[in-house]
Amino acid sequence: MIPIQRLGALKNVQAFKGHLQSLGLNIPCDFELLVGPESPLQWPLEHAGFKFTNRIVVQPMEGWDSLPDGNPSEHTLRRWSRFGSTGASLIWGGEAVAVAHEGRANPNQLVIAPHTHAGVAKLHEALLKAHREATGGAQPPLIGLQLTHSGRYCRPNAHDRPEPKILYHHPILDSKLGLSPDFPVLTDGEIAHVIDDLHRAARAARDLGFDFVDIKHCHGYLGHEFLSAHTRPGKYGGSFENRTRFLREIVEGIRSVAPGLHIAVRVSAFDTVPFRPDPNTSAPGKMGVGIPEPHSHLIPYRWGFGVNPSCPTLMDLTEPKQFLALLDQLQIRLVNLTAGSPYYNPHIQRPAFYPPSDGYQPPEDPLVGVARQLQMTRELKSQFPQLIIVGTAYSYLQDFLPHVAQAVLREGWVDFVAMGRMILSYPEFLRDASEGRPIQHRLVCRTFSDCTTAPRKGLPSGCYPLDHHYKSSDLATKLKLAKGQRP
Ligand SMILES: Cc1cc2nc3c(=O)[nH]c(=O)nc-3n(C[C@H](O)[C@H](O)[C@H](O)COP(=O)(O)O)c2cc1C
Ligand code: SF4
Repeated sequence: MIPIQRLGALKNVQAFKGHLQSLGLNIPCDFELLVGPESPLQWPLEHAGFKFTNRIVVQPMEGWDSLPDGNPSEHTLRRWSRFGSTGASLIWGGEAVAVAHEGRANPNQLVIAPHTHAGVAKLHEALLKAHREATGGAQPPLIGLQLTHSGRYCRPNAHDRPEPKILYHHPILDSKLGLSPDFPVLTDGEIAHVIDDLHRAARAARDLGFDFVDIKHCHGYLGHEFLSAHTRPGKYGGSFENRTRFLREIVEGIRSVAPGLHIAVRVSAFDTVPFRPDPNTSAPGKMGVGIPEPHSHLIPYRWGFGVNPSCPTLMDLTEPKQFLALLDQLQIRLVNLTAGSPYYNPHIQRPAFYPPSDGYQPPEDPLVGVARQLQMTRELKSQFPQLIIVGTAYSYLQDFLPHVAQAVLREGWVDFVAMGRMILSYPEFLRDASEGRPIQHRLVCRTFSDCTTAPRKGLPSGCYPLDHHYKSSDLATKLKLAKGQRP
């Protein structure tokens, strides 16, 4: 593979567009940034009973920094406050919030339960306050809470002790997690309890002032695993109808216990097989380039959602389209499209120049990963114009993010541009860009992946290289030590 071009070294938009051309990628990109009402980022949107003042969204970004009992810490509060300072008109979930202790992805995940209600309400309040201060009292954003159960990736009691809850045996992921063939799968009765927890959590979210809940169906967690439960017997596996029963039962219950609360879904619309570092390109201190786990013996592949069963490294949007049609039928109009999982194919999910500590060197130019998500989103938006579609994976675009964002919005590829990692380093980026303030290039996320590596080492997430809150704290020293670097 030719060496990957560092985007920070490209001098201007012309050079970036030339680079896209050399890679053969179709990513729209405007030369000039427009400002104020002229900027597509500042266009209002009124649709399906919702009213938005701009097209900027904050992706859910978990911090692994809540207290052991599931209440927010001062780091959590600060992060939510920074979500507000983006001026975004849509806050997609804040972060993944576990609906029960045993469903936590780590022992510091936020939990929604009676003893945390007051804490969660403070997050909502802090976000609104920061939004008011940043925008001078503009219309408040639509704020959701992302509800989750971590399924296969539960680690509720210790960051290095997986306690998976699986729906079916996966021929590759089971061995990655060391699960034996007789490891128990969740029973239908246990699933019913999770659904009850989701109903309770949704009612609490409504009572705490949230406008909507996101029923998370992405990134390998429980909701997403249902969509690929082809091999599970019984009412939650096999047919498309059975694999979406979990969602339908949740929606039905929420509508009865929390009327008036909007429902949204974030879904991994495509996937690929799990990847691993290639041992042939690994060297001491350097992980290998990512390659797919061997899977030729697993064709037709029956363990993915949005993958081509004959060649599962390729996406197939047939079922994701059926899924969006189902959301529409259920009158769910807010949809956030993402892909893959940070655990088994991070290059698909969050394209990065520098891999996280448990990843692999990029197997492709990360711009290919960005383009893949943009194209998928464009195709789904064009087929479902009635849905409000939020797009993902823009942070790798770095300094060129606003140029691409305004172009994809203007061309109607997507309704909202959402930022994930960029929010951690530079929350005001798109507001600065679309309101004519100078851009602070030193705060632009360079996809160092420390925000993913830190939690893998049992530390809170955050932008260690660029955010002074972490840069100058003893957490930064701990992260260096955990990475085997000198503090
Ligand atoms: C530190 C970190 C925490 C994340 N937490 C969540 C989460 O709680 N829920 C979720 O759906 N996605 C989560 N994501 C994924 C992001 O929302 C987003 O999809 C991803 O980072 C790609 O977008 P970006 O290129 O703007 O970063 C997280 C990503 C990172 C790096
Ligand atoms: S640590 Fe900071 S610069 Fe690195 S990927 Fe995360 S947000 Fe971006």
